[in-house]
Amino acid sequence: MLIKRPRGWEIKEARATPEAVFHDRRRVAQALGLGSILAGIGEFGALGSALADEADPSAGLYPAKQNPAYTVAMPLTPEDIATKYNNFYEFGSHKQIASAAQELKTRPWTVKIEGMVEKPMEVGIDNLLKAMPLEERLYRHRCVEAWSMKVPWSGFALKALVDYAKPLGSAKYLEMYTFVDVKMAPGQRSFWYPWPYVDGLTMAEATSEMAFIATGLYGKPIHKQNGAPLRLAVPWKYGFKSVKSIVRFAFTDKRPKGFWEQLQASEYGFWANVNPEVPHPRWSQAQETDIGTQEKIPTLLFNGYAEQVAGIYKGLEKERLWA
Ligand code: MTE
Repeated sequence: MLIKRPRGWEIKEARATPEAVFHDRRRVAQALGLGSILAGIGEFGALGSALADEADPSAGLYPAKQNPAYTVAMPLTPEDIATKYNNFYEFGSHKQIASAAQELKTRPWTVKIEGMVEKPMEVGIDNLLKAMPLEERLYRHRCVEAWSMKVPWSGFALKALVDYAKPLGSAKYLEMYTFVDVKMAPGQRSFWYPWPYVDGLTMAEATSEMAFIATGLYGKPIHKQNGAPLRLAVPWKYGFKSVKSIVRFAFTDKRPKGFWEQLQASEYGFWANVNPEVPHPRWSQAQETDIGTQEKIPTLLFNGYAEQVAGIYKGLEKERLWA
């Protein structure tokens, strides 16, 4: 039997999950007599052979040419680690969801672009990939739970998708939604979560140079557990902003309320920019554990991207920019 021993850097589920949700889940599970089963799901992580690559029609597009403007000063996280320690609550509220996520069917995959746009449209992922300028960028990736990794995403600037979508001048925000399919994603049967997973950015953030849509990882189509076939990567923000497996982009003039903000607004806000000096209500954000080396390293303002993004927040100092 494979017993998962938590390492020093692994935050206990009770700490990493919004408190209200954690207690609710326990309460519901106890009422149903599922307490020990639920606990077991968190403790055991059996990875089957299901991780083998399937034929993907976009495989020939990778590796995309690396953009030398976006690199990291530290060694990349090994692929085997970055693809086996994930947050993807649709497949379970623990980190070992890689095997379960192989149930995600990524073809056909239609992306809807709607809301405040000149003309709403639907586009298949392979046509979208043909229309977008693909490149590889090395990015840091910092979770609000105080762990981080450095990964080679391939994909395209979110700005390219915004230009393609032709939003109206009155659009102020871009919302991104994940699919809903309880057969594929059993985590969505957990009714205490506000499915579908959603989050959003201001138009200034969405069109800024760092905002990226990842469609590839480690020179291949992106792994299912990392959010295939397309996910957001906004590395100056805590990872929960980076919506996985997007099916809908909606332009709006109302500030979106993300999945975690809906659950626990006191801990997870709209802006969620990385700041080592502003602790999470239940833990410090001063350091992070690199999941590749297990070293504790200091967390940087805007996760090291202040030069690229700080200008977006000029004049917004009164907002709760950091959590
Ligand atoms: N997107 C969806 N649809 N579901 C999720 O549970 N988790 C978020 C984000 N996007 C999540 C999601 C969180 S909390 C983090 S830290 C990152 O995905 C994790 O991305 P990774 O597993 O590729 O490291």
